[in-house]
Amino acid sequence: MAWTDTKTHTEQIHILIVDDEKSIRDSLYEAMKLTGYQCSVAGNGREALTILEKEFVDVAITDINMPLMDGIELTKIIKEKYDTDVIIMTGFVNDFSYEDIIVDFGASDFVHKPVGLKEIIIRLKRVLRERRILKENRQAEEQLRLTMENLQKAMGATIQTLALTVETRDPYTAGHQKRVATLACAIAKEMVLPKDLTDGIRMAGAIHDIGKISVPAEILSKPGKLSDMEMGLIRTHSQAGYDILKDIDFPWPIARIVLEHHERMDGSGYPDGLTGRDTLIESKILAVSDVVEAIASHRPYRPALGIDKALEVISSSSGTLYDTNVVENCLKLFHQKGFNFI
Ligand SMILES: [Fe+2]
Repeated sequence: MAWTDTKTHTEQIHILIVDDEKSIRDSLYEAMKLTGYQCSVAGNGREALTILEKEFVDVAITDINMPLMDGIELTKIIKEKYDTDVIIMTGFVNDFSYEDIIVDFGASDFVHKPVGLKEIIIRLKRVLRERRILKENRQAEEQLRLTMENLQKAMGATIQTLALTVETRDPYTAGHQKRVATLACAIAKEMVLPKDLTDGIRMAGAIHDIGKISVPAEILSKPGKLSDMEMGLIRTHSQAGYDILKDIDFPWPIARIVLEHHERMDGSGYPDGLTGRDTLIESKILAVSDVVEAIASHRPYRPALGIDKALEVISSSSGTLYDTNVVENCLKLFHQKGFNFI
């Protein structure tokens, strides 16, 4: 029973012997079969390629000097086109260095002729073991990549749910967070910031007003001018958002971006009056996007003022309230790249 299991396992491994000497082909074929491998034979490189076109081969063991196509050319083609390891056999040890055969030709190992059957089986098993480890590593990496992708999707869905939670209570700003996230992302791309940072901006933008959940709904939707006390309550939303998000282990500084989105370059913002030196570039981008979207859109206490007015406001406060580079790129998006809120 044990023998059958072993045979079943090893028969899946396919070895191709390539040599113009029949006696060598025959003895290696026998050795492979005895070890339990599936085995094919070819008399030169061309015959070997015909077999490789039709069947998957794990390892090719090839001679160098052969008619029609030699072992070096065959090895180069195999390494270009197939997931097959190559062991080179040569009787001309002095003509080739280890570097030639392994580094330049891409072979996994080489053996001297005349070939000792025991030696070649040992070397073959080492090559097969390395193949298996490499394959397992690749599978583990792929699995990890898929897991990360799924986690990101789940995180994106969670963030969308959080965004909807606050927008349900505050219908006047429904869609605001999404539009801010879109503009902030476009600015980050225009500034050629790294993708990872841009992803963080998208996520933070989508929930930057989550803290409004702690502000009474009647204040959020009040049509008239807000009193100082009501304004004070609204201003608690960035700290409240930070408090909601701070313990979630995002791969981006989401809580901090949310906390800083109303800070201004000259320190006149809230909640901490931080200057541009102390805030993240993500926060500076979100600040500009937030203001542009808010001015351009309808609010309970005023009609929409339009995009021209919004761009005028950020231009006139560029360098004092808003980061100049961020403003410049935002203006470029609207004036030259045809960006528009959908
Ligand atoms: Fe806000």
